[in-house]
Amino acid sequence: MTARHRSGRDLPGRLITFDGIEGSGKSTQLAALSRALTAKGWSVVSTREPGGSPLGEGVRRLVLDPAFAGMSARAELWLYLAARADHVERVILPALASGAVVLCDRFSEATIAYQGCGRGLPLDEVEAAVELAAGGLRPDLVVLLDLPVEEGLRRVGERRLTNRLDLESTAFHQRVRDGYLALATREPDRIRVFDARRPLEELQRAILAAVEPVCRSVVAGSAP
Ligand code: TMP
Repeated sequence: MTARHRSGRDLPGRLITFDGIEGSGKSTQLAALSRALTAKGWSVVSTREPGGSPLGEGVRRLVLDPAFAGMSARAELWLYLAARADHVERVILPALASGAVVLCDRFSEATIAYQGCGRGLPLDEVEAAVELAAGGLRPDLVVLLDLPVEEGLRRVGERRLTNRLDLESTAFHQRVRDGYLALATREPDRIRVFDARRPLEELQRAILAAVEPVCRSVVAGSAP
């Protein structure tokens, strides 16, 4: 991967990711932001992790399958990272090169929070692996939707029976939440925390207000 790709900064597009614990409402907020930015004339590409490319979607089926309940934490880490490497190279970098605003449902911060803080793998090793898999690409902005674990799991409700990670203990999800909040404390400008319990439309407006300045910094020529 070239130096240009490693920083992501020389590419004209912007990468905005949504993250948070289960039931935080990321997907709903991502769809609303996509509609709002598109209406304002931005070229938007919406995608997700794990997934977003044919290999990524294949890995998604594997990694979320309750049949693999006993999967080793390191195997889980590398499956998520394999999906990310393919997704970044085949989908995200080309979209950023075309000047698009890429909205991704989960990205590297999820791996640090879930596999690092949740599973307890050594954080320095997880962070190094995350950097390698994404080729150094980091989101320009992470929209971190935060809410108490009990409320997130209650919102997920029925879906808990179908996703291998949803079935984890409350303590696991609490470590994940704490991990996300620690990341945001470390980089408050790049990782912005939003209270996911706010009314939907109020939250949409707050997210749009945080994201628009980041989009406006898109290299001249691709702005609407
Ligand atoms: P989703 O339900 O938000 O689509 O995410 C799928 C699950 O995968 C969710 O439980 C979080 C988990 N996950 C990780 O554990 N590590 C990662 O790197 C990613 C992207 C997701």
